Amino acid sequence: MADTDIKKGLAGVVADETAISKVNPETNSLLYRGYPVQELAATQPFEAVAYLLWHGELPTEEQLAGFRAEERKHRALSPVVKDAIDRLPLDTHPMDEVRTAVSVIGAIETAGTGNVLDAVGTPEENLQRSLQLFAVLPAIVSYGQRRRRGEALVESRDDLDYAANFLWLTFGEEADPVVVDAFNRSMILYAEHSFNASTFTARVITSTLSDLYSAVVGAIGALKGPLHGGANEAVMHIFDEIGSADNVVEWLDAALAEKRKIMGFGHRVYKRGDSRVPTMKAALDTLVAHYDRPEVAELYTKLEDEFVSRKGIYPNLDYPSGPAYNLIGYDTLTFTPLFIAARITGWTAHILEQQASNALIRPLSAYNGADERHIEGYVPDTAALDVQERPEEAAG
Ligand SMILES: CC(C)(COP(=O)(O)OP(=O)(O)OC[C@H]1O[C@@H](n2cnc3c(N)ncnc32)[C@H](O)[C@@H]1OP(=O)(O)O)[C@@H](O)C(=O)NCCC(=O)NCCS
Repeated sequence: MADTDIKKGLAGVVADETAISKVNPETNSLLYRGYPVQELAATQPFEAVAYLLWHGELPTEEQLAGFRAEERKHRALSPVVKDAIDRLPLDTHPMDEVRTAVSVIGAIETAGTGNVLDAVGTPEENLQRSLQLFAVLPAIVSYGQRRRRGEALVESRDDLDYAANFLWLTFGEEADPVVVDAFNRSMILYAEHSFNASTFTARVITSTLSDLYSAVVGAIGALKGPLHGGANEAVMHIFDEIGSADNVVEWLDAALAEKRKIMGFGHRVYKRGDSRVPTMKAALDTLVAHYDRPEVAELYTKLEDEFVSRKGIYPNLDYPSGPAYNLIGYDTLTFTPLFIAARITGWTAHILEQQASNALIRPLSAYNGADERHIEGYVPDTAALDVQERPEEAAG
């Protein structure tokens, strides 16, 4: 196969159709089921966006109330899952902790299905499994942070909606509406982004007719990497390293001289700015004002200005979301698990879509290894080398 046929990193390859979201780098826009993500972030609770991604339409008031009631039913961490988390070392990376918890849930939920064919489940079962994971992930992520801080599990509050309850679970106190709003917006912005690496991983696993939990566990593994979801954590490490706006120029000179990648900048699809950044930056600004931390905004702006003017590479969503989560009080290691809690909606929407119109995802590769060679003294079984004809070819 000629080199020109290879699409390294599948760059530019259109692997399938999707009705879930549309990324248009030319117009710098991102649509979920046709709605601009900025409009959704400004007007909707995250539950309505989850509903939209799964069902294709925003819920009516009645549908939203029903959906919220169902979500509330599945918020609690089961004793088995809590015990599984408690058995992990305290310095387990939170991404590994969440991956393990989802794997345990999957093993329990698919237990008794008999054989691999039954474990796949019906579309209705998989929609319900999606909702259950969406509902319980805030408890998993929040408990992880509390456990590392030596704090006890906090139980959900049925009078609080998803975003407010998430913050309650993490901090054990009711969050200010400004904070709830910024957090809700971040969840919506992180919910879905077409065939990104983790979503594609979920679709690849689904395409083998494996179950939804296996697909989500695989997606979490893909999301962990710093070239993908891990970037929001990595941005905060960079902010900590730099310290203040005054140090940006010196730090950036050294980082670029070492050819370091500056986390939170650049994107495989967007080359002229990430459509989600202005909305998240506005949410960050409200948090900066709320917590009275202008130095965070100064460092943010200085690094952005310096990096963009030198490299012409723009920030992605992880750049504003990292410092935003830090201001809210999340530990840096919890940032990417927050991304999981949001992206579970997009992943599962894609899993359902893949299941509804499946084709095994199995690309080709161009071999560039050693020429054919043989084990000395081995006498091949010539029958094994026979090329088999397919019956229809033989017939026709
Ligand atoms: C996201 C990312 C992987 C996209 O990568 P890509 O489309 O494969 O583009 P490349 O990595 O090939 O980058 C193209 C060029 O820009 C440079 N570049 C891209 N992002 C960069 C960054 N954040 N810092 C420094 N240089 C960067 C590359 O070094 C490369 O330069 P070269 O042509 O001189 O080798 C890349 O921009 C990156 O690593 N960003 C940092 C991690 C991050 O924030 N990820 C979250 C994505 S939402």
